[in-house]
This record gives sequence, C-alpha cells and structure tokens, in this order.
Amino acid sequence: MKKVLIAYASRTGNTKKMADFIAEGVRMAGKDVEIKKISELKNEKAIEGYDAYVFGSPTYHRDMTQGMKTFLFLGQKLDMQGKVAGAFGSYTHSGDAPAIILDTMQYVFKMDVVELGSFNLKEDVLPTPSGTRACQDYGRAIGEKLGD
Ligand SMILES: Cc1cc2nc3c(=O)[nH]c(=O)nc-3n(C[C@H](O)[C@H](O)[C@H](O)COP(=O)(O)O)c2cc1C
Repeated sequence: MKKVLIAYASRTGNTKKMADFIAEGVRMAGKDVEIKKISELKNEKAIEGYDAYVFGSPTYHRDMTQGMKTFLFLGQKLDMQGKVAGAFGSYTHSGDAPAIILDTMQYVFKMDVVELGSFNLKEDVLPTPSGTRACQDYGRAIGEKLGD
C-alpha cells in the first residue's frame, strides 16, 4: 500500500491537530500514513521510503519554525523528485509558513505538488466541524493523487 509521511512542527498543538485530521483523510483515500514530529526525525534515513510527504509548520513571526527550516535541509540529502507533496499549518493572521515550505518542495526538491496547493487553517476554525473537514479533505486529496 502507498505510504504517506506527515511531518510537523507545533508549539501549542494546533498544527499537530491538523496533522491528525489530515491523516484521517489520507486513510479515507485508502492509503497508509505515519505522523511524526520533526524532532523525532533525526536523519535522512528516517524520512526515506514514502510515496508522499506532507510537511506542517505554524507561522511565527511571518515564517516557518526554526526546527522546520533545519528539517528541510535534511530533505536536501534525499531524492524526493516526483514524489507527491503538500504543506500545512495553523495561523492567526498571515499564515506564511505553508506556502514557503511548499515552494521549497516544488522548486528545490522538484516534487509533485497537490493541486490544492498549500493549506492554511486559522486556529479558531480548527475546533469546528468545517475545520476538521477541511483537514480531512486535504489529506484525501494527497491520498487520491497517489493513485492505486
Ligand atoms: C509570538 C507569536 C508570533 C506569531 N506570529 C504569527 C504570524 O506572523 N502570522 C500568523 O498568521 N500567526 C502568527 N502567530 C499565531 C500562530 O501561528 C498560531 O497561534 C498557531 O495556531 C500556532 O500553531 P501551533 O499550535 O501549531 O504552534 C504567532 C503567535 C505567536 C505566539
């Protein structure tokens, strides 16, 4: 079965919750998924062997977290060309991080970006049914893009 890695950073738990709901959507599309905090992923071996990669970071100071920046340099050591890519994160007002992460995945790692683009969710929408659904839909789109 095709397998998706969701790797996230989260200071106060919102982006982690998004990761869990996105994983539900991936499973709805019939794909296997693992969710890991980026601090658990110490070297490139830990991130190799997946068919799709979905990276999550909240936006702080109009940027991704420092940990996510360091993590993306790990990606440089792996060949992820052509693999399916998505990026997400919680935010309050500007939500810059997911778009920057997805740019790196597309233009540096040469990955195959999901049609929905990057996915930002306002933290006050996250606890609502439409927040849950939006995350699941994003995960499902990643899973469906993988095909059979
Ligand atoms: C010091 C600080 C700076 C922040 N800067 C931004 C920002 O530049 N843009 C934005 O949209 N949200 C900003 N936020 C809001 C966070 O992105 C938001 O609370 C998010 O839900 C946190 O996600 P997490 O629980 O996964 O860490 C900031 C929050 C804090 C505490």
